[in-house]
Amino acid sequence: MAALKYAGMDDTDSEDELPPGWEERSTKDGWVYYANHEEMKTQWEHPKTGKKKRCAGALPYGWEQETDDKGQIFYVDHINKRTTYFDPRQAFTIEDLQVKPKRYDGNSTALEILHARDLSDRVVLVTGANSGIGFETARTFALHGAHVILACRNQSRASKAVSLITEEWRKARVEAMTLDLASLRSVREFAEIFKARKLPLHILVCNAAVCTQPWDLTEDGLETTFQICHLGHFHLVQLLQDVLRHSAPARVVVVSSESHRFTDLVDSCGKVELNLLSPPQKEYWSMLAYNRAKLCNILFSSELHRRMSPHGVTCNALHPGNMMYTSIHRSWWLMTLLFTFARPFTKSMHVSSSLEEKREEVRDDRERYQLHTSADPCVSHR
Ligand SMILES: NC(=O)c1ccc[n+]([C@@H]2O[C@H](COP(=O)([O-])OP(=O)(O)OC[C@H]3O[C@@H](n4cnc5c(N)ncnc54)[C@H](OP(=O)(O)O)[C@@H]3O)[C@@H](O)[C@H]2O)c1
Repeated sequence: MAALKYAGMDDTDSEDELPPGWEERSTKDGWVYYANHEEMKTQWEHPKTGKKKRCAGALPYGWEQETDDKGQIFYVDHINKRTTYFDPRQAFTIEDLQVKPKRYDGNSTALEILHARDLSDRVVLVTGANSGIGFETARTFALHGAHVILACRNQSRASKAVSLITEEWRKARVEAMTLDLASLRSVREFAEIFKARKLPLHILVCNAAVCTQPWDLTEDGLETTFQICHLGHFHLVQLLQDVLRHSAPARVVVVSSESHRFTDLVDSCGKVELNLLSPPQKEYWSMLAYNRAKLCNILFSSELHRRMSPHGVTCNALHPGNMMYTSIHRSWWLMTLLFTFARPFTKSMHVSSSLEEKREEVRDDRERYQLHTSADPCVSHR
């Protein structure tokens, strides 16, 4: 139940039920008002609770707002080919008092960002989703109804992550698939299996990474950090780009790092030096390899956006925060020590109790929305 509350999908509050003859509607900019058909009047306050409400978030995927000849707003659900005067966002209304222009900052959680978004038509793929930022990302998408695939190299860790999410919300559509970015063969196999399932792909989060790894070569003969953090993802996106295009609007999100600033890819003469990407052991420094791979993430994301955005696929790179206590530090004791000292001052993976309280106050749910639309006399199927 907690999961439903976080995601703005908790059970209907019965005190909110409208008396007979009343109807809930919303204005173009999402303010909820109440129409009393018997007395032919409208008001902003709920007839029972006296509270004012506002729709939260954007329209669900595939929906569009339009205005009819009489100036009345109606909603078109392009996926199910129907129209209704009921604003689907009314499934996620929040009290007027809480509606303040929201600014996201370093303390915002993934759940806050996606609050009240209905992602039930979306297929999301997150690499390295069995721990840390990837897990939190996958969990948040799943709690908002998306079909989430955790692409992980270790099946038992991946299954554990899947269970954690489904324990939180039994109906979460979440599954694990094997993907080892240190093997281009595994990337190809993954892409083939994914494509064979004929699923769309709306969001691809290239998140997996290793940091401070001792020097090693992958089975493809490339330095491991470079291949896992960048090349594996590069190959994966290449192989899935037609699926992304067919699923447009779609997006690729590359989890990079601020540390990309502490390196470059040019030699002493200022020429791009590709050999720096997969250096031999004697020229290897793990932090530098990580920083270079993260720089590649950004260059890749920006070029991908240039090429794919005309086809409806956007691409962004991000820095998730400094020294967040995940398992990224595990390969080097010094890094673990640094992360441990920094831990009280950095972003955490845990949902704060104040956020939980906020979610408690979220009012409506998608089941109520379904009830409304099925009972809505204005619903028509096109
Ligand atoms: N934490 C921070 O402070 C911080 C700061 C800046 C950027 N980032 C970025 O945030 C992203 C997530 O990192 P995190 O902090 O959440 O670290 P994390 O907890 O260590 O997560 C990394 C994930 O990548 C997976 N992975 C590693 N090698 C893989 C491979 N060969 N194939 C597939 N998956 C593989 C790991 O799986 P296993 O469990 O099997 O190893 C793990 O699930 C990374 O891109 C990182 O560079 C993190």
